Amino acid sequence: MSGWFSRKKAGSSNEISEAPSGGWNFDPTGFEKAAKALKDIDASPNAAAALEILQKQEETQKLEHKRGIEEAKAHQMQADSQRIKVAEEERRKTMEQEAYQQQKSLQYSDQLKRKRSEEERSAQSYMKDQERMKNEESSRKMEAERRATLAQELEVRAKAAKDRAMAEAEGRIVQERRNHDLKMKELAAEGDQKLKTMLESIKLVGTTVGEGISSYFNDTDKMIKTVGTLTAIAVGIYTAKVGTGIMGRFVESRLGKPVLVRETSKRTILDVVREPMESLKRVGAMFGSKDTNALRGVVLEEGLANRLQSVARATVNTKANSAPYRHLLMYGHPGTGKTLFAKQLAKSCGMDYAILTGGDIAPLGREAVPEMHKLFDWSQHSKKGLLLFVDEADAFLRKRGGEDASEMSEDLRNSLNAFLYRTGEASKDFMVVFASNQPEQLDWAVQDRVDEMVEFHLPGPIQRKQMLEMYFNKYITNAEGSKKENDTSIQMPWKKFARTIGVEDIGSKEDIDLKLDSYIDMTDGFSGREIEKVAIAWQASAYGSEIGDLTEEMMDDVINAYSEQAKAKREWR
Ligand SMILES: Nc1ncnc2c1ncn2[C@@H]1O[C@H](COP(=O)(O)OP(=O)(O)OP(=O)(O)O)[C@@H](O)[C@H]1O
Ligand SMILES: [Mg+2]
Repeated sequence: MSGWFSRKKAGSSNEISEAPSGGWNFDPTGFEKAAKALKDIDASPNAAAALEILQKQEETQKLEHKRGIEEAKAHQMQADSQRIKVAEEERRKTMEQEAYQQQKSLQYSDQLKRKRSEEERSAQSYMKDQERMKNEESSRKMEAERRATLAQELEVRAKAAKDRAMAEAEGRIVQERRNHDLKMKELAAEGDQKLKTMLESIKLVGTTVGEGISSYFNDTDKMIKTVGTLTAIAVGIYTAKVGTGIMGRFVESRLGKPVLVRETSKRTILDVVREPMESLKRVGAMFGSKDTNALRGVVLEEGLANRLQSVARATVNTKANSAPYRHLLMYGHPGTGKTLFAKQLAKSCGMDYAILTGGDIAPLGREAVPEMHKLFDWSQHSKKGLLLFVDEADAFLRKRGGEDASEMSEDLRNSLNAFLYRTGEASKDFMVVFASNQPEQLDWAVQDRVDEMVEFHLPGPIQRKQMLEMYFNKYITNAEGSKKENDTSIQMPWKKFARTIGVEDIGSKEDIDLKLDSYIDMTDGFSGREIEKVAIAWQASAYGSEIGDLTEEMMDDVINAYSEQAKAKREWR
């Protein structure tokens, strides 16, 4: 253009028609033709229509173009919305994927956590198990050590006791031997003297006695032998005498009643020697009718009575079949017949019985353990089987480890251990019957030894009536020493009966019965022992009265006093 304008300024008015002097070749005819055509068109009558058509065509083209643009826009929008949709879809998918992944990771971490806590738990329980096993092992070890120590201690003690006994015996033997030697010397000296005198007298009568005899006395060898023989006989007799004494003491220590036994039906050899008549009576009783009722004189409510009958039957059968005995625990209120039943059980089963009281152990101190062993050694020597009744068992068989364990002395603990040691295995020689007012205090090892447990309750109204009647008969109607009601035996001149207690004031048998009935309620809460004591008190007041009879007033006074006492006792509990 700049070229075109620059040329226009510099050129003449005809310059268009002039041929350009440079390389540019412009043909103006084209313009001229177009201008001519335009002129033609303007001059043409259809020019307006053609222009209109042209305009219309142009408009149509514009419209088409616009539509094209709009279509393109619509396309664009559609494409945009499609894209947005796709993007949205993708975003949703991504979100879903993310959520899924998140859930997965949460699940995984949860699983991990659970697994970890499970592992921790199992590790903890493993540790606990290990700990428990360790504890068990150590307590087992301790128990074994304790047992070993105990066994050793017992062995040492037994050995010491044996050594002491041997030393004592030997000492005595030595002493006796010394005494004997002295005596023998004396005897020998005496013998020498006698011999000399004899020889002299023989010499004196030598002339009248033959040559043979004098040659015998002259033969010192023969003489010494004779003296030796005589001495040996004397020594034999003497040693036998001394030895029997020592053996006697040994037998006594082995077979005598152990100090722990309070009361026993078992006769020792020494008892037989000491009380031959009593022993004979017992032998007689053995062949006489036997008391096979374990509940004789024991008033109990029906359920308990049945249970104890079956215990008694089982014990008899155990004994008959020489099976191991079952140990029994009786517990309950004091004075309800535990001791009474235990004794009667032993008698009815044909066993010996021995009563051991828990409270007797502690005062023995260090001697308690050897005494305990002595007791069991002794128990094993009963031919009939022995019922060992441990009364007030809680006094020495109470828990070793517990609140009141510190109150327990070392000796008491040792005696408990000795007891456990000797009762650890089932025995065919003895049956242990424990009685306790506080069974919960018994050591668990003692509780473990119990095969049967029986609880004794305070007597109910029916039992109270039975006991009132029974003890009224025992202490009033058939008072000890007085002539029994139904006794038809002929009175021996040397046998004096005590005066029978008169009950005329109370009345006939029926009246007495009614009177006793009226005491049933008043004796509520009384134990069997208390009821018996009431009857004893009636007897005492009858004997204490001027005429020696029992009156209704006396009975009432006693009952009133006792129920007052019972009330006070109940308040103290
Ligand atoms: N159930 C009973 N039947 C007959 N008499 C009984 C009864 N209970 C107790 N008695 C009388 O009381 C006395 C004492 O009873 P026992 O010694 O048997 O009591 P316990 O239960 O052993 O008491 P504790 O726990 O105090 O030792 C007996 O000797 C008996 O006379
Ligand atoms: Mg008792």
